[in-house]
Amino acid sequence: MALLVTGGYGFIGSNYIRHLESIGYRGKVINVDKLGIGSNVDNLKGLNLDHKFLKLDLAAQNLPENEEIDYIVNFASETHVDRSIKNPEEFYRNNVESLFRILEWMRKSKNDVRMVHISTDEVYGEILEGSFTEESTLKPSNPYSATKASQDMFVLAYVRTYGLNISITRSANNYGPYQFPEKFIPKTIIRGMNNLDIIVYGSGKQIRSWLYVRDNAEAIHTVLLKGKKGEIYNIPGSDEVENIQIVKMIAKTMNRELKIRHVEDRPGHDLRYSLRGKNLEALGWMPKTRIADGLGLTVKWYMENEWWWKPLVNEKVLGVGFA
Ligand SMILES: NC(=O)c1ccc[n+]([C@@H]2O[C@H](COP(=O)([O-])OP(=O)(O)OC[C@H]3O[C@@H](n4cnc5c(N)ncnc54)[C@H](O)[C@@H]3O)[C@@H](O)[C@H]2O)c1
Repeated sequence: MALLVTGGYGFIGSNYIRHLESIGYRGKVINVDKLGIGSNVDNLKGLNLDHKFLKLDLAAQNLPENEEIDYIVNFASETHVDRSIKNPEEFYRNNVESLFRILEWMRKSKNDVRMVHISTDEVYGEILEGSFTEESTLKPSNPYSATKASQDMFVLAYVRTYGLNISITRSANNYGPYQFPEKFIPKTIIRGMNNLDIIVYGSGKQIRSWLYVRDNAEAIHTVLLKGKKGEIYNIPGSDEVENIQIVKMIAKTMNRELKIRHVEDRPGHDLRYSLRGKNLEALGWMPKTRIADGLGLTVKWYMENEWWWKPLVNEKVLGVGFA
């Protein structure tokens, strides 16, 4: 069986490929990545799984016609909300166009290819009480989540019109090893390691549901193998925690004082995300790693793998004060 992973040098894509190795996956893995911001070839360093890399920008190039592919897991997207606010056009072009080209490739393929398309809980927007289900209305709040909602609409339309075999996952906020240091948790850990203050947007009272990345990888693979065509699978995190509490938990895990600096809130910042994952529960999947354990693993990983993040960081990535 040949499995094509797009965005396999990114954070979740590389953890997914590592998950395949850990479960003894024996098929061929093809990793397609444009090597954009957030990607890193070191994310798959030391991997023993049989895999091949194709450098392609899916927003400008089609998947190869001659490749025999049975499954696709589509992670490829521009992903950082702040960058989407500064440059929405790049996100629109990259995320909508790349997904569209993959769908067209599938539509014309002679094989019966099955795909899992990776979306996000951000397509639902914020929810102050209760939890979103797979039937909830989409109400994206920023350009990034608007492009992800557009991707979902195209997927559902292609399932309905052309009968393509695709399921969608919408997961909570992921954290864990190999996450690019511009994101909240690695940035907090690395700034803390460098005795810099911790940047928190607004009051820090924003609540996120946190999902350990390897749990997400397991959920995605469950959907790939057992999910239904045209079905949406929410992937909730294990715990809902305020951002400010995450900083305090990281400080405790690192066993050091972290000085917090509140900065102006991000425009359109959602206050709370919350998911119910009834479709995945029906497939027998629940998140395993509680936030305290997952944060412990993550802090330890960043502290022990300076070789990995050191070449990636500068003031642009880590914020003011980082030389
Ligand atoms: N990180 C999260 O908390 C989270 C939560 C829910 C959903 N998601 C979704 O999961 C997916 C992966 O997110 P991530 O955090 O690993 O992001 P990431 O930025 O670490 O990785 C994205 C990867 O996709 C590649 N890519 C982007 N555009 C491409 C293109 N046109 N052609 C080929 N490769 C391209 C990048 O080079 C990179 O390797 C995304 O679709 C994102 O929307 C992420």
